[in-house]
Amino acid sequence: MTGALGLAADEVTEVLATAALAPSAHNTQPWRFRLGPRRIEVHPDPTRRLAATDPADRDLRLACGAALFNLRLALQARSVRPLVSLLPDRDAMAAIRLGGRFPADEATRRLLAAVPARRSNRKPFHDVPVPAAHRHALVRAAEREQSWLHLVTDRDQRFHLRQLVAKAHRSQVGDAGVQAELEAWTGARSGDGVPRASAGFRPAPQDEWALRDFRGGERPPGKDYESDPLMVVLCSFCDGPLDQLQAGQALQRVLLTATTLGLSASVMSQPIEVGPVRDRLRRTLGGMVVPQAVLRIGFGSPVPPAPRRPVDDLLMEPAAA
Ligand SMILES: Cc1cc2nc3c(=O)[nH]c(=O)nc-3n(C[C@H](O)[C@H](O)[C@H](O)COP(=O)(O)O)c2cc1C
Repeated sequence: MTGALGLAADEVTEVLATAALAPSAHNTQPWRFRLGPRRIEVHPDPTRRLAATDPADRDLRLACGAALFNLRLALQARSVRPLVSLLPDRDAMAAIRLGGRFPADEATRRLLAAVPARRSNRKPFHDVPVPAAHRHALVRAAEREQSWLHLVTDRDQRFHLRQLVAKAHRSQVGDAGVQAELEAWTGARSGDGVPRASAGFRPAPQDEWALRDFRGGERPPGKDYESDPLMVVLCSFCDGPLDQLQAGQALQRVLLTATTLGLSASVMSQPIEVGPVRDRLRRTLGGMVVPQAVLRIGFGSPVPPAPRRPVDDLLMEPAAA
């Protein structure tokens, strides 16, 4: 490991370890980093694509955007002001250069502290509504990253969203390629994938929302899902690779803000991954914004962390000076 952006090698290791705590579909962690004395680059890892589930790499770019957001926080906490270029060349998703030295503010430190505490929580939440002030904070978090958080509170819209999630879920259950990827990334793996302890419960007929089935445990009798979770759709304003990277940063700011407020969340990407369902969801939301992630948010009980790969496995050959 070498230094970068004026940071010592061990500081760079910590910064990259923070980036790698970002969420990713099936916990594939599809990012790599290239270090140069004057830049840190975020690259996709093509060996970790989900070709059947995510053929256009949308989930992959969201994950890399989320890792980039963590990277920005970790650098800011070390007084490095990150100057970010998105898609600077054919290969890299982002390049970060030194934009000066400034101490981080309190809000940045709070978000950074939330990085290791944030987890996907697929277990039932408590039947406690998310207060209005918390909802506003989540909406503002998305806006800060040039994105839009649509709260699905309208009864008809909620009904449509539930149907679309179920439809996309059924379509993926019937897709052998998608199921093979789910199987491959579920259960005991080393450093990645979704372990049984993170999987939530097996689906049951009474479940209102079709969560992805990561082969979790049987639920204890009477342990049903909450009746009224806050359902939100994170949206971008256009739909190119750049917008997806931007949405990934927004996703992570929203999830970390939720964590600072004591909220839990899980991502439900089936209605985004299935193209025709995504189009219908877009129309349900009025057609002006592009849905990028559906989230279920509420007050949950603690869940264990999902594994991560060691930083050494994430490094590419160093860039030229
Ligand atoms: C783009 C994207 C899509 C995801 N889709 C789903 C999903 O459909 N269902 C689900 O339970 N989790 C989903 N997740 C959450 C990941 O499975 C989770 O981030 C990963 O397993 C790592 O666990 P952690 O979030 O607890 O760190 C998604 C995450 C991202 C970034």
